[in-house]
Amino acid sequence: MESVREKEKEKTLEVEIERVLPGGMGLAHAEGSTVFVSLAAPGDVLRVRIDRVQGKLSFASIIEILKPSPVRVEPPCPYFGRCGGCDFQQLTYEAQLETKVEIIRDCLRRIAKIETPVEISMKASRNEWRYRARANWQVDSAAKLLGYFERGSNRVCDVEYCAVLVTELEETLEKVRNDILPERSAPQLRSIDAVVGDECVSVSPPLESFKTDIVSRQIANETYYFSAESFFQINHDLLEPLLVTALADAKGKTAIDLYCGVGLFTLPLARRFERVVSIEAHPKATEFARHNIESAKLQNAEVVTARVGDWLNQCSGSLGPIDFLLLDPPRTGCENRDIAGILALRPAQISYVSCDPATLARDLKKLIAAGYSLDSVAAFDMFPQTHHVETVTRLSVRDLPPPERSNR
Ligand SMILES: C[S@@+](CC[C@H](N)C(=O)[O-])C[C@H]1O[C@@H](n2cnc3c(N)ncnc32)[C@H](O)[C@@H]1O
Repeated sequence: MESVREKEKEKTLEVEIERVLPGGMGLAHAEGSTVFVSLAAPGDVLRVRIDRVQGKLSFASIIEILKPSPVRVEPPCPYFGRCGGCDFQQLTYEAQLETKVEIIRDCLRRIAKIETPVEISMKASRNEWRYRARANWQVDSAAKLLGYFERGSNRVCDVEYCAVLVTELEETLEKVRNDILPERSAPQLRSIDAVVGDECVSVSPPLESFKTDIVSRQIANETYYFSAESFFQINHDLLEPLLVTALADAKGKTAIDLYCGVGLFTLPLARRFERVVSIEAHPKATEFARHNIESAKLQNAEVVTARVGDWLNQCSGSLGPIDFLLLDPPRTGCENRDIAGILALRPAQISYVSCDPATLARDLKKLIAAGYSLDSVAAFDMFPQTHHVETVTRLSVRDLPPPERSNR
């Protein structure tokens, strides 16, 4: 018994959280090692349990809050800590916003090696709760569980409600639960996507009382059609300001929209440029993007179903000078060949929309090294209660016109 207690004691530490890192963990130093603590707040003094050691890095979880940070609040959700969805509910909303700006700044300095301090604006979400208009729910039909993955695992955390979902999705979660859990009707069903439009909710795969309907949303005077089968942004209230910042006063002859989804940026770009070429790998999304262009009666935009790297590899040089290139890749950012292809096109202006500051910084480093200058960085709190943040970075080429432009 004594030795078990001794062992338990060995695994605990008292730490003070210095700051929150990209990825959402709190950083502390103790007994010669760097400790990453989940669900911590900057300034917390904590007793933590070491869960895992990797060289000089220890990964820990909170056992006791010895002295709470001044920005710590009681997380209101009963699933917080077990559910893998939210990891910032322990912070005041102000502190969440400040922490996200610091995370972006940290990535720009450490990964992109940008030494001069960058001004980063932050646009708060209109709703700190009930903002999420798209969800991906996990299903364990044998155990009758529906919800999100548990933190750091692929076990399903059963959630009866979720406070970040918009009301329509909250109701859908309840109906889906009543539909699929009483009977083990679909043991092969592993996950469900749901998205809210102006008319109703679209669910994929289709369930007894829900269809994979096409829904639409009106954003900045454009109408977008989509369904649960294709990507659409999560926090719809922030899309108009996001568009304004990402496009600003851009206009001219040719624009490219990489990773275009259902065409969120393609439509407004087509109002400002003579020609727009948009690239997206997901066939269902490109189908919607073409439909959205047609419904908007725009004839100057085309959508190519392709992986960005493949398309860039083939098109280089054939489009003439590119005035503006917008890219909005998934969390993993760009592949090496994507950046090489963008540099071969040498667009005069780049607008990089990103949902991961670390991969954004990695890609910016390459663009800056190749002759682009960073003009502005703006953050949007698309995902309150989580460490995730959307960033729009504007760049322009320093030495225009490059020799290749006149040859095209
Ligand atoms: C973050 S979403 C952005 C979509 C769109 N710009 C929007 O705001 O709604 C990224 C999109 O990139 C697509 N995608 C992922 N990898 C890709 C690749 N290698 N080539 C082309 N599209 C890709 C996904 O299908 C998804 O639609």
